[in-house]
Amino acid sequence: MNAAKRIGEKTRPARPRPPADGAAPDALLDCAVAAARAAGRHALRHTKRRREVFALYRHDVKLVLDRECQAVAHGVIRRRFPDHGILGEEKLDSNRASEFLWIIDPIDGTVNFFHGLPIWCVSIAVQAQGRSAAGAVYAPELDEFYTARIGCPALCNGRPIAVSANARLNQALVSTGVGKQTRDNSSYAGLFETLGGRIQKLRILGSAALDICNVARGRTEGFFESGIFIWDAAAGSLIVEQAGGRAEILASGPGHRLALLASNGKIHERLKAIVRRALP
Ligand code: IPD
Ligand code: CA
Repeated sequence: MNAAKRIGEKTRPARPRPPADGAAPDALLDCAVAAARAAGRHALRHTKRRREVFALYRHDVKLVLDRECQAVAHGVIRRRFPDHGILGEEKLDSNRASEFLWIIDPIDGTVNFFHGLPIWCVSIAVQAQGRSAAGAVYAPELDEFYTARIGCPALCNGRPIAVSANARLNQALVSTGVGKQTRDNSSYAGLFETLGGRIQKLRILGSAALDICNVARGRTEGFFESGIFIWDAAAGSLIVEQAGGRAEILASGPGHRLALLASNGKIHERLKAIVRRALP
């Protein structure tokens, strides 16, 4: 397990080189937005097919639309940046030698989508030289489109957003999530005991990317989950940081798995001290 660090800071380069031609931060953000919009609209147009299952697991479902939405996002990125690396939840991993890496979660909150709950989104992030450069999270049924790029404030539907100013742990609303594996589920009783008793309420909403955006928007004070993946968290982490909050990887493991804490910053260290005890 790695020491605590921010997403995208595997090894912090002394001085990042400027991105190559055609990959300025604005062009990266434009592409992330276009890819998220195209994939989100595809899912929205096909909600009648929400139960077309590709594979069914004990605590998860893979939909035909997960794959289709990933293909749509992939196509948008490939057309603009054919040489960039792309990593996607649905078994997509190409051009890893590139200094740019796109990270796609085609439908985050797939189980919600499958059941008809509107809390799901498309999440697209891009890293330049290992550091997050731009991110977009689009929740079509909620009509919420979060964006951020390095050096600029985070936006929701084009308007600046900011994390909550609440520094009182006992008045904090915090969300968490239940992972895909049985052992993730069994550790939740402990988390509800250790964290639930110290904050106002603990919530499970079912989309890690939107959980992190809710922190960025000041609706919640924190989000913690052990057993999510880089594609769940990459875009949201940049969005919450550009909204004045913090996103910290508390542990990472094989297959791009992470334990992530995102917060408004004010209660970060106190939350971390509590959730660390709940890590498996
Ligand atoms: C899942 C969601 C969920 C979280 C799981 C994720 P998916 O992503 O973000 O909220 O608890 O750990 O795997 O499978 O819907 O893309
Ligand atoms: Ca996901």
